[in-house]
Amino acid sequence: MKSINKFNSIIGIVLLLPLVLFGCSSNTNSVSSNEGSGADASQQVELDILSWWTAGGEADALNAVLDGFHAAHPDILVENAAVAGGAGSNAQTVLATRLAGGDPPAIFQAQGGPDLLRWQESDSLEALTGFYDEFGWKDVIPETLLQMNTVDNEIYGLPINVHRNNVIWYNKKVLDENGLQPPTTYDEFFTTAEALKAKGITPLALGDKNPRWATLLLETALLDQLGADGIAKLWTGDVDFDTPEVRAAIGIYQKMLTYTNENHSALDWQDAAELIVSGDAAMMIMGDWASGFFASKNMEPNVDYGWITTPSKEKIFNVVNDSMGMPKGVANQEAVKKLVEYFGSVEGQKAFNKLKGSIPARTDVDVSDYSLYSQSAAQDFKDSKIVLSLAGGSATPAAFINKFDELINMLTYQQDADAFVQALNEAKTILKGN
Ligand code: GAL
Repeated sequence: MKSINKFNSIIGIVLLLPLVLFGCSSNTNSVSSNEGSGADASQQVELDILSWWTAGGEADALNAVLDGFHAAHPDILVENAAVAGGAGSNAQTVLATRLAGGDPPAIFQAQGGPDLLRWQESDSLEALTGFYDEFGWKDVIPETLLQMNTVDNEIYGLPINVHRNNVIWYNKKVLDENGLQPPTTYDEFFTTAEALKAKGITPLALGDKNPRWATLLLETALLDQLGADGIAKLWTGDVDFDTPEVRAAIGIYQKMLTYTNENHSALDWQDAAELIVSGDAAMMIMGDWASGFFASKNMEPNVDYGWITTPSKEKIFNVVNDSMGMPKGVANQEAVKKLVEYFGSVEGQKAFNKLKGSIPARTDVDVSDYSLYSQSAAQDFKDSKIVLSLAGGSATPAAFINKFDELINMLTYQQDADAFVQALNEAKTILKGN
């Protein structure tokens, strides 16, 4: 068994890589303690988990599940090897490096579907189908989530949550004090934004240092213009990007940009969310990890912050899913299996999602003590049209979403919608897999 010091230094080297490559901020890397657990140190097994959960809410959620795991398994130490920034791309770079170098994390966070399955394509993933059979997960995890992670009847990921991307968050006091209602159409959105701007309040908080959060903004406008079926077709590569609906969504995106904070290119999503906390900005369009973030700042749902789904003609739930993957060649298989089992358990999913802002992937977890927001999301998940999210990594191959991020960054700073549409049409080859 490696000593803890050596273990930490290996993780430290791995963590330095993205810091050097991307100049991103440090993470919340820590070893969960088993002090007082009575475990004999010489019997301990060490594992690590790689994710990009480092902001308020998401980091608390991960720690909660690791704490619960340690209480149940004091003989297994789990290193939190989270890597900050890049909308996950920094963590994914570390993952690629570690897999290539024969130093895989015990388990890792990915987004369900193409984002996770690219590691299966490179033959780096263990199938978890046996765990599904043993722990009865097929009966409690919705088919949509199972299918996302299935190839040739083998399931490669464990879905742990369901996030929603298409939400406008707002500082309730700011809207109330200005006699404003949360917008239900984009016309209303811009009327509200104009009123806020006139009062010197930033209407829309944005942090697109990672262009993924700009992509999310445009995706929500596309949902409105194309509807659930239309947007799904867009991601197959079979339809033209140069349509009046896509052009209208781009127009909405470009207009939204004119109501954002000037420093948006320097901020990440959690920095933008801080503007909602402080009341410097009124609204933000972001996945519902934002509600976990607001809770970590002691903001009360429906008192300090409110939410409404982004405008659309249908009731749509734009799904983002986090799934756990288990690389091939991981040491301490029995202990890793226990960790995966815990992430898949009612107890693990309950603790994790309560702080994360997501709802559990398992359908048998009682959410009646979750936040008001999460309870409403759980209800909406049951009676909305489910659309897999582009920005959530589940709708298209990773190469396409990465290209989309690059192109939207050009759109943001060059404002050339024609070039954007043309480049998207060229990128359809990625969607069609050739
Ligand atoms: C998403 C991920 C969420 C959340 C968010 C911000 O990609 O699915 O779990 O953590 O990034 O970090």
